[in-house]
Amino acid sequence: MLKPYKLLSKNFLSISDISIDELVYILDLAKKFKKKELNFEIKDKVLGLIFDKSSTRTRVSFQVAMSRLGGTTIDLNPNTSQIGRGELIKDTARVLSSYCDVLAIRTFKQSDLEDYAKWSTKPVINALTDIEHPCQALADFLTVKEEFGDFKDVVITFVGDGNNVANSLILCGSMLGVEVRVACPKGYEPKNSIIQKAKKINDKNILKITNDIEFAVSGANVLYTDVWSSMGEENNKGKKDSNFNGFTINKKLLNKAREDAIVLHCLPAYRDKEITDEVIESEKSRIFQQAENRMHVQQALLACLLQ
Ligand code: CP
Ligand code: NVA
Repeated sequence: MLKPYKLLSKNFLSISDISIDELVYILDLAKKFKKKELNFEIKDKVLGLIFDKSSTRTRVSFQVAMSRLGGTTIDLNPNTSQIGRGELIKDTARVLSSYCDVLAIRTFKQSDLEDYAKWSTKPVINALTDIEHPCQALADFLTVKEEFGDFKDVVITFVGDGNNVANSLILCGSMLGVEVRVACPKGYEPKNSIIQKAKKINDKNILKITNDIEFAVSGANVLYTDVWSSMGEENNKGKKDSNFNGFTINKKLLNKAREDAIVLHCLPAYRDKEITDEVIESEKSRIFQQAENRMHVQQALLACLLQ
């Protein structure tokens, strides 16, 4: 019988904070929770959510995951707390971690998240920063596993900005030995530090960064995209929209992937920018299954962190 066990790392700030065995284990556990084959309770535990940016999926999936485990959640943002009035992270972290058993934080800088983790006495989860979105990567790979059974010979092509979602996808792919290709316009490649970290995790040349979208899509099992302008980049939107011209996942591009290819998007989506409505609504889309999986993977993650 599969049972949640304690993770080696206190925090989940990056997808690579957990070991490869732990990653595989969380995905298996999530599947059990999804199939309702596992009854596991962490009664009376409280998850504190601190969101400096908007969220629909991450906020609600964490709330429901916690409630399914028998725990509760409190939801904070800069406007309803003293965070917006400039209270220091080190003070907020010490106080909130004395009330809560785990904190999930969505903020801008990865270094601010690390600061929370440093001062918090309880586990801290990255609920998205400018650099990573590791909970999203868990759901992405669970969705891929559900589709193809395992990760053998699977090729995932991310079309779009080398952003937080792409970064966690890249690192998670390296951990699981999955070929990840990123197709982006010149100048929008993922950070070199992420590429180097991925290559250190897996040196088998399974990460491909290219500006050649046709090459990236050919033979791919999964086409994945995200918004061109992430939260915090609103001022650059006009420039990015024009620079990303030609990087839309449409029917024509999808037809260049493998016949059994599926389409992912972390959502929210901007139709006719990074993806067409036709593709989102097509039989190849697993986008809403992927969104549902956020809840199952986070239930598994919480169960492990709260052991
Ligand atoms: N995918 C994702 O994180 O969605 P939200 O911004 O709605 O949480
Ligand atoms: N890259 C996007 C993801 C949203 C879930 C952003 O950071 O806004």
